[in-house]
Amino acid sequence: MFKSLYFNKFHSIILLTACISIFFVNCKTTPKEEDYKIIQSSVAKKAMVVSAHHLSTKVGNDILKKGGNAVDATIAVQYALAVVYPRAGNIGGGGFMVIRTKDGKYDSIDYREKAPKASTRDMYLDSLGNVIPGLSRNGHLAVGVPGTVDGMFEVHKKYGKLDFKELIQPAIDLATNGFLLTPLEIDRLNKFKPEFEKYNEQPNPFLKDTPWIQGNRLVQKELAHTLELIRDKGRAGFYEGETANDIVAEMKSGNGIITLDDLSSYHSKWRTPLVGDYKDYKIISMAPPSSGGIALLQMLKMVEKYPLADYGFQSQKAMHLMIEAERRVYSDRAKHLGDSDFYNVPQDSMLDETYIADRMSDFDPTKSTPSDMVAAGNFAVPLESFETTHTSVVDAEGNAVSVTTTLNSNYGSKVVVDNAGFFLNNEMDDFSAKPGVPNQFGLVGNEANAIEPEKRMLSSMTPTIVEKNGELFMVLGAPGGSTIITAVFQVFLNVVEFGMPLDDALFAKRFHHQWLPDVVLYETGGLTEASKQSLEALGHSLKDVKYMALVKAIHVQPDGALHGVGDNRSEDHAEGY
Ligand code: DON
Repeated sequence: MFKSLYFNKFHSIILLTACISIFFVNCKTTPKEEDYKIIQSSVAKKAMVVSAHHLSTKVGNDILKKGGNAVDATIAVQYALAVVYPRAGNIGGGGFMVIRTKDGKYDSIDYREKAPKASTRDMYLDSLGNVIPGLSRNGHLAVGVPGTVDGMFEVHKKYGKLDFKELIQPAIDLATNGFLLTPLEIDRLNKFKPEFEKYNEQPNPFLKDTPWIQGNRLVQKELAHTLELIRDKGRAGFYEGETANDIVAEMKSGNGIITLDDLSSYHSKWRTPLVGDYKDYKIISMAPPSSGGIALLQMLKMVEKYPLADYGFQSQKAMHLMIEAERRVYSDRAKHLGDSDFYNVPQDSMLDETYIADRMSDFDPTKSTPSDMVAAGNFAVPLESFETTHTSVVDAEGNAVSVTTTLNSNYGSKVVVDNAGFFLNNEMDDFSAKPGVPNQFGLVGNEANAIEPEKRMLSSMTPTIVEKNGELFMVLGAPGGSTIITAVFQVFLNVVEFGMPLDDALFAKRFHHQWLPDVVLYETGGLTEASKQSLEALGHSLKDVKYMALVKAIHVQPDGALHGVGDNRSEDHAEGY
């Protein structure tokens, strides 16, 4: 149950050599072994935090031990991630949070970005009506109005126990003093250097002349100052005054359109969580503008009446059924889902049992249903960026939080706000820039997800909490773009149908179908030749990808202990007490 990754002696020698060779540059201390201790799976009696970075998990645990509740810990983790996990942790992005209190009450907040007021439906099209490649993905015009800071103040107002200043201070300290970069972050910072250079004119802490190497520390003085403004002035520290002026100046330096008015009028929104049943389990997840909750419930309902456990884990029968359910659900997503404040999402109809049964009425256990028979359109698309971040928290009283937050792509739009030191999102790419034209995740959309001023772009984020017999059973979610929903679907079924302990359930290789393109993605090494052939025999096309989604979950054991697991595909860290 307890798996750790320790830095070995070999790595330590490299680190030491690296530090000596670059002397004082970016390397203030010789790294200690424990700086790199990653715990992916651990069990604790009272409380648990699973997040994408060991330092943010530590911050969350410290808050819980000080008497903070799960919401306090989550706020502290969100701000810490904005410092130690700049590729997805953020103050320049947005997210969704699902809460289950110790008394079994549910709540959820949407702090998703909004389209700026000056945005238009065709803003990413050229004069011939074609999508201009990259315009919604990189640079200033890709940025939605950030929601994270407002969201954190809202949840704190409603559920927080400790003083907000205590929750943000660890992030300020990490930004001021710096921290040791992890191998993955080093890799990403080096990889994206050309884009940081392309979209930023001024120096920033993420850019340096020589490549980042192990032993380097990242110090973010400007970000520390912005966080201090938020600490001292509250919401106004970000949406008004100095920070807001910096954001607008940054916009004007490129082709951005966010104004002071967009910022001051941004408000996150409490929404009724989506609740549905799967056998003895109650699934509590996120409603639109995320597609996560509806899609997850649809998939579960589509497979519920079949004997999955008898079929067996990743058997031909189980995979075929799950793939066909996924295909139908993503086709519904493309047509019907968008921001329910702007578009009449047929939520109840989509979850209606008769409708779901009807949707599966053409399921054929002996062959795949081509996607163009489920609906029109076909094309090939790459899936490459998997950078968002999820955190799962349970506190000693039994309050649970499941939160997913993102800048969208790695480092969002790649634009760093001058003087304020943080990356801005590229969430506008989650809109459908043109009907039927895929976004970076290969997802297509239509009217429901067309761009409108102040509308929120459709998301796949699926922060989820599960109850069994009225008791907390599981907290889970993931980054991974369109593959988030199928990852949550599969990890849940791995536990409840295939009887796996959470670590096995989470580390098991996954597969994914999203209607278009009509292909089953599977993680490299995940399928034997025999199982590939058995799926191909049913008419499925298969394509391997390195990895999909990075799940972070907590499973309440029969004796009440908390089993926390972070993904072994990344540097996730699970720790409690
Ligand atoms: O909201 C969404 O669905 C996407 N912006 C999430 C992006 C994502 O998960 C990227 N990679 N991990």
